[in-house]
Parts: sequence; structure tokens; C-alpha cells
Amino acid sequence: MSQLTTPRTRILGTGHYLPEIVRTNHDLEKMVDTTDAWITERTGIKERRITPDGMVTSDLARFAAERALENAGVSAKDLDMIVVGTVTPDMPMPATAVFLQQKLGAPVCPAFDLSAACAGFIFGMSIADQFIATGAMKRILIVGVELLSRVINWNDRTTCVLFGDGAGAMVLGPAEGAVSESGKPRGVLSTKLLSDGALAHSLMIPAGGSVAPMSHELLELHQNKVHMRGQDIFKVAVKNLYSASKNALDLAGMTPDEVDWICPHQANMRIIDLAVQRLAVKRERVLTNIDRVGNTSSASIPILLDESIRSGKVKTGETVLMCALGAGISWGSALVRL
Ligand code: ACO
Repeated sequence: MSQLTTPRTRILGTGHYLPEIVRTNHDLEKMVDTTDAWITERTGIKERRITPDGMVTSDLARFAAERALENAGVSAKDLDMIVVGTVTPDMPMPATAVFLQQKLGAPVCPAFDLSAACAGFIFGMSIADQFIATGAMKRILIVGVELLSRVINWNDRTTCVLFGDGAGAMVLGPAEGAVSESGKPRGVLSTKLLSDGALAHSLMIPAGGSVAPMSHELLELHQNKVHMRGQDIFKVAVKNLYSASKNALDLAGMTPDEVDWICPHQANMRIIDLAVQRLAVKRERVLTNIDRVGNTSSASIPILLDESIRSGKVKTGETVLMCALGAGISWGSALVRL
């Protein structure tokens, strides 16, 4: 992937949006055979956000994107490309990115979705980095957005407790030699992307594609909803989040000690804790919000990053290591000096 002595791309602005409806663990206790204690102990999640009827994926994306554009001081009219990471699009065709393009009033430009599940936002960042590095583009909007509440079987306690809805966005542009107060170059320092289809069946929505076109029978069997082998994902997530983080650091010639913040995908607090332990990073340098938002898949990292920047916790000039893994399995990392 990219290995840089001087970053070519910089984050110009970030934004996020969470729908207002809160579904707590106690709400779930009334829906399935579970307890707040079980969910909290096994996942670290206390509540998640649910999108109201009538609102769609591109609406969540739009609210997050507008905040990122405003934060970046960039008009939607100046965008050169729009990339949306999602596994819960408005519809199978066309891309959610073109609905977003229309809602933002963005000009004619490439606008496409990418399907890398929870790693979708990191994949989008790396793609944007490459296009900006060549000089082909100057303003790229990346959005991670999921409306998972509509693809969850709310009778399946093994999955329904994990996920939530939300959107996060970022505008990337040329680094143009920007430096931090300590004189260090600001921008994307390295990215690493990987996929391994050997575990493709561990996490999937089985029906609705060419393998199993939608039918009444498949709907009755909930084959249009998320199916997961949780323990398979758990083991590989710890291992690969660690290795992707190490890869990004090695590419940039940095050690874990030199990173100010780790911004990991919010899948499960135990996965985060174990991956971070292997990386030997102090717990207080790890950003988390899983207790309040659950697993929002591709939206997870940009929501957490934007919350952390806006609260003043993460500051300009600090380094942030982002890492994610999800269905595919696909995983990756991005190391950035803000
Ligand atoms: N409430 C109460 N009991 C439950 C629940 C629930 N919500 N869900 C499962 N159980 C039961 C099981 O039925 C099982 O019962 P049994 O022993 O009688 O058979 C028992 O709890 C233990 O189940 P396990 O699956 O062994 O529980 P585990 O400790 O592995 O935790 C979990 C399950 C939380 C899903 C975990 O495997 C996990 O987090 N895996 C990662 C999955 C993930 O994060 N997926 C998200 C997408 S991918 C990503 O973002 C990285």
C-alpha cells in the first residue's frame, strides 16, 4: 500500500450523524432472551441508535457529509469524487453515492459505493489517498454509512444486540506541505488494505444476490438478514487488527509508542482490548464509543474520529492510527497526522 516519507494527502474536515432513536440493552431484554449484563460483559455495548421509518441510508450519509464539508470549508460543488462505504445501500442499484451526490448538489463526478463492510471507510481513505497523490483529484468525500437496523433479525439474540445505525464522513485533499506546530508533516502517513475470502461465510446476508435471488420462502427464513459465526470473527479480528496496525506503523517507520491515539473499529470491547494489548499501547490512548453507538460497521471509525476531534480530545498535529476488520473478511489500517 502506500509508504510515505512526505504525506501527499491531508484530512480537511470530518463530520458524523447519529439518528435520534436510542435502543438500550433494557429495550432488547423485552425483545429477545438476553440481559443487559450479558451484552455489557460480552461486548461493552449499552445502547445503539436506530433510524426512524422514512429515513434512508443516503439521508444519514448526507447529514454526516454536510458536517464534514462545513468543517473542511469545502463546497459540495468543488468535490471531485464521492466514495461511500456501505453494506446497507439505499437499493442494490444504483449506488448510494449517486443519491448522496444528488442530495448534496455535487457536480458530475465519479460517485460509487464500495463493499468492504466494517473496513469500508479505511478502504475509501486509501483509494482517495491514491487519487490525490497522483494529482488527478483535489477534493474527495468519503462516507462510511450503515442502516443496519433494517438488515438485522430482531429475533436473533446473537446478532441484534451488536449493531447500530450511523454515518461518518471525511473530506480529503492535497497535503500541500502542511506541518504541525512541532514541524512534523501533517497528512496520511500510510495505509494498508487486505482481504481473505477463506472466511467469507462467517458473516453474510445470504439472500438477495445471484446465489439466492429473493423469494417469499427466503424472506420467511430471514435469509435477507445478517448471519454470523461470532467466534470465528472474534478470533481473526484480534489477530488481524493487531497485524494491520503493525503494518501501517512499519510502513511509516513508527513504533506504537509514537502514536498519540488508536481509533479502532468499534466491534466489541473485548476485541479492542485484546488487539491493543498485543500492540502494547496504553489503554488511555485508545478511543472508544461502543457503549453508546454499538457496531456501526463502516461508519464506526469516522463517527469516533469526528466525535473525538470535536470534543477537543484529539488535536491538530497528533497522530491517529485507525484499524478495522469486517465481513469478507476485509481489514486494513490508516495512520494519519491530523
Ligand atoms: N444474550 C444472552 N445469551 C446469548 C446472547 C445474548 N444476546 N447471544 C448468544 N448468547 C448465548 C449463546 O447462545 C451461548 O449459549 P449456550 O452456551 O447455551 O450455547 C452463550 O451465550 C455463549 O455464546 P458464544 O457465541 O460463545 O458467546 P461469545 O462469548 O463468543 O460472544 C459475541 C458472542 C459477542 C457475538 C462474540 O463472539 C463476538 O463479539 N464476536 C465478534 C462478532 C462481531 O463483532 N461481529 C460484528 C461484525 S464483524 C466486526 O465488526 C469485526
